[in-house]
Amino acid sequence: MNTISNIHTLKQELKSKSGSIGFVPTMGALHEGHISLIKQAREENDIVVVSIFVNPTQFLAGEDLDKYPSKMLADEKICDLAGVDFLFTPDINTMYTQDEVLIKAPILRSYTLEGERRPGHFDGVLQVVCKLFNIVNPTNAYFGKKDAQQLSLIKQMVENLYMDINIIECEIIREVDGLAMSSRNVYLSQDERLQSLQISKSLKIATKKIMSGINSCDEIIGYMENTLEGIEIEYIAIVNRQFEKIESIDLKNTIILVAVRIGNTRLIDNIWV
Ligand code: PAJ
Repeated sequence: MNTISNIHTLKQELKSKSGSIGFVPTMGALHEGHISLIKQAREENDIVVVSIFVNPTQFLAGEDLDKYPSKMLADEKICDLAGVDFLFTPDINTMYTQDEVLIKAPILRSYTLEGERRPGHFDGVLQVVCKLFNIVNPTNAYFGKKDAQQLSLIKQMVENLYMDINIIECEIIREVDGLAMSSRNVYLSQDERLQSLQISKSLKIATKKIMSGINSCDEIIGYMENTLEGIEIEYIAIVNRQFEKIESIDLKNTIILVAVRIGNTRLIDNIWV
């Protein structure tokens, strides 16, 4: 594996190779969720590129940018073992200059849910993903359903800007007890880690109720609120794949999302039904 932090060098290397390029953008502190994306990229492409860049423009003031977990040595080893060809590790001055052309996420789809709690977050995500796409020029780019709204906005950006890239949606990877894997799970104390199990439990109960024939979103949300009792809920939402709020469940076109705060840690999860 070749670890590269310079844009020009990476572009030259990629230009000298032929075949499809699979790309997995990340912010590092890699876990099984990231690894599943990398493995899929490895299976489906000739060349695999992973990027690790903690993108400051997607963090709001007061968020965890400064303490975002960093494990570069371990991450490098993980990527090497997973068969990554190029690990791209730019620094902030490589990725950004002053007074740049900015990408603005679409208002309706990006200022609800995550975007309502984190205004501007998706502008930063799209800005950096657009840059990374232009640097790597991937055939296929892999994103987790864990960040469902991000995935949907990236698909929209690719469509709206006529980017010739296939966006591959990857399943959510969970701990054995159900907690969705996240780089932020390391912030949880033992007690908080136990409490966090209520999140996936609430999604499981929602699915069970839907399977038993309940299709009113309000009713499903009620069951989820009961399961999450004692936890600070930021939102529970039921939307279609276009991220529009819906009143009743439309099977195969519904995403149930939840965001909570446990102690100082913000956790999100969702299920696609
Ligand atoms: P990061 O949080 O590091 O996530 C990188 C990719 O891994 C995203 O596509 C995310 O959805 C996916 N992922 C994270 N946890 C997962 C899990 N448990 N199961 C499956 N996939 C999972 O998302 C970002 O970084 C950034 O916003 C980025 C796109 C890199 C732009 O800065």
